Amino acid sequence: AGTYKTDSERSFVMIKPDGVSRQLVGKIVSRFEERGYKLVAIKTVTPSEDLAKEHYSDLAARPFYPGLVKYITSGTPVVAMVWEGKDVIKQGRRIVGATNPLDADPGSVRGQYAVSVGRNLIHASDSFEAATKEIGLWFQQGELSDYEPVAWPWVM
Ligand code: PPS
Repeated sequence: AGTYKTDSERSFVMIKPDGVSRQLVGKIVSRFEERGYKLVAIKTVTPSEDLAKEHYSDLAARPFYPGLVKYITSGTPVVAMVWEGKDVIKQGRRIVGATNPLDADPGSVRGQYAVSVGRNLIHASDSFEAATKEIGLWFQQGELSDYEPVAWPWVM
């Protein structure tokens, strides 16, 4: 132990219900794994309305907020994850791609698989503050695994 930085950055990443329905979980997880990030936590959750509203509380005034909450609470689970490593917040947003799939880089998840803004497959924290809030909202401390990956130097 002690050969990797225990304080390296973490991001909250969520595969939304359409990603689970479309059976894209493995492909999406692979993008983070293959980049070299460390999986700290992963679980399926069927979000309550309260959880969805709190997750998107910053967007409460937006016209699309009720529809967004309805989509996330459709009854199909989401996959909630925490990934760790150098620049994982910014890099995670690049892996996800722009909000509107029309603007998303074709190599990104949304750019490859999504068609509309309202069904854009995946969420990733957009800042350190958001990541801290979201990890705390979706996970208990004991659900976050602390381990040293076999090979890790490329993300230090
Ligand atoms: S903004 O204006 O910059 O705050 O918005 P943005 O970061 O692009 O989007 C914030 C989240 O809202 C989702 N979104 C929508 N969902 C459903 N329908 C519409 N029209 C819509 N517009 C934006 C967007 O996907 C972001 O959610 P996450 O889960 O973070 O991707």
